[in-house]
Parts: sequence; structure tokens; C-alpha cells
Amino acid sequence: MRVVLGVAGASGAAIGLAVAEGLARLGAEIDLVVSKAGERTLVEEIGPDGPARLRALATRTHAIGNIGAAIASGSCPVAGMIVAPCSMRSLAAIAIGLDDNLLTRAASVQLKERRRLVLIARESPLTLAHLRNMTTVTEMGAIVAPPVPAFYLNPVDLQAVVGQIAARAVDLMQLGPPQARAWG
Ligand SMILES: Cc1cc2nc3c(=O)[nH]c(=O)nc-3n(C[C@H](O)[C@H](O)[C@H](O)COP(=O)(O)O)c2cc1C
Repeated sequence: MRVVLGVAGASGAAIGLAVAEGLARLGAEIDLVVSKAGERTLVEEIGPDGPARLRALATRTHAIGNIGAAIASGSCPVAGMIVAPCSMRSLAAIAIGLDDNLLTRAASVQLKERRRLVLIARESPLTLAHLRNMTTVTEMGAIVAPPVPAFYLNPVDLQAVVGQIAARAVDLMQLGPPQARAWG
């Protein structure tokens, strides 16, 4: 069981960390790729040890410029990919099939191989370009799952909100028993 985890430079780096923890709980191998902006938001929002904490959970870490990495090919046996968080830049690149770095290339590979691609796309408010790109990737088979709190579960703190968003993303991969809290 092998999953690609992409971390782009949108706010919500903690969600990427929580997704990695959730995948590790399932026993999944994690192929990690972090964009340059993602490295920055990990530091800004988690701290100087953010990138290292994330890498510690990964089975393999690939450089963003390494377009020759195994996960750049459809022949690499992965179940799918989660981009958490996903910036509007990476969303746009995925929507037009730009494949301009290893994160967007690996995302395109999931689409061409008809595998799961879950995008925790984060921006607010949204422009028409953002909305159109979300429509486009959805038409191609991706799942856009914006990081919105499950208010109905009365989360006690931000960690609970982050944990629920990450657990729902992991559950969407359908690799094991659900981790997210369910209503009722
Ligand atoms: C602290 C911080 C927060 C950001 N938050 C967002 C965001 O929520 N959504 C977004 O689309 N871009 C956000 N950006 C801007 C992206 O990082 C920028 O567009 C970058 O080019 C994205 O590159 P990437 O897609 O390769 O990660 C943020 C940047 C910083 C430094």
C-alpha cells in the first residue's frame, strides 16, 4: 500500500502533517514531495522543524525538481495521491496538465492512470479562475476537498479541526477502515 503525499504552498501545512500521520497509522508507504512554497509554509506555520517532522513520517522523500523519480511514472504502483494542502498555483497546473514539477507531474499521473487524486485546495475568497480549475480537475476525476471545518462535530480546538480534515482525506483513499469521526 503506497500513497503519494504532495504538500504545496497553501496555508494549512499542519493538514499535510496530519495526513502523513493518518497514512502511517494505516501502514501505508508514503512517497513525499513538497514544493518550494510548501517548504516555506511548513516553516512559517509549524516551525523550523516542520519539514523534518514531515519527512520523518515518509517512506521516501523526492525532490520537487526530480522529474525522473519513480512517482513521475504511471508504472509506479501507488494507490493514489493526496495533495494537502493544495495551492491555487498547483491546482491550476494540474487542471491544465502542466506537469511542471514532480508534485504536479505525480498528480497528472494519478489522473491519467484513473487513480484517486484528492486535493485539499485552500484559498479564500475564490476567483473565477480558481473555481473553473476546481471544475476542470473534478471533470478529470480528482476529488476537491477544501479544508473546511466539520462544525457539526463541535471541534474543541484547531487540532481537532485539522485532524478531521486530514482523516476525511485519508478515508477518501479507501485504503482501510475510516479514521474520521462520523456524525451520530
Ligand atoms: C504563508 C503563506 C501562505 C499562503 N497561503 C496560500 C493559500 O492559502 N492558498 C494559495 O493558493 N496560495 C497561498 N500562498 C501562496 C503560494 O505559496 C504561492 O502561490 C506559490 O507560488 C505556490 O507554489 P506551489 O503551488 O508550487 O506550492 C501562501 C504563501 C505563503 C508564504
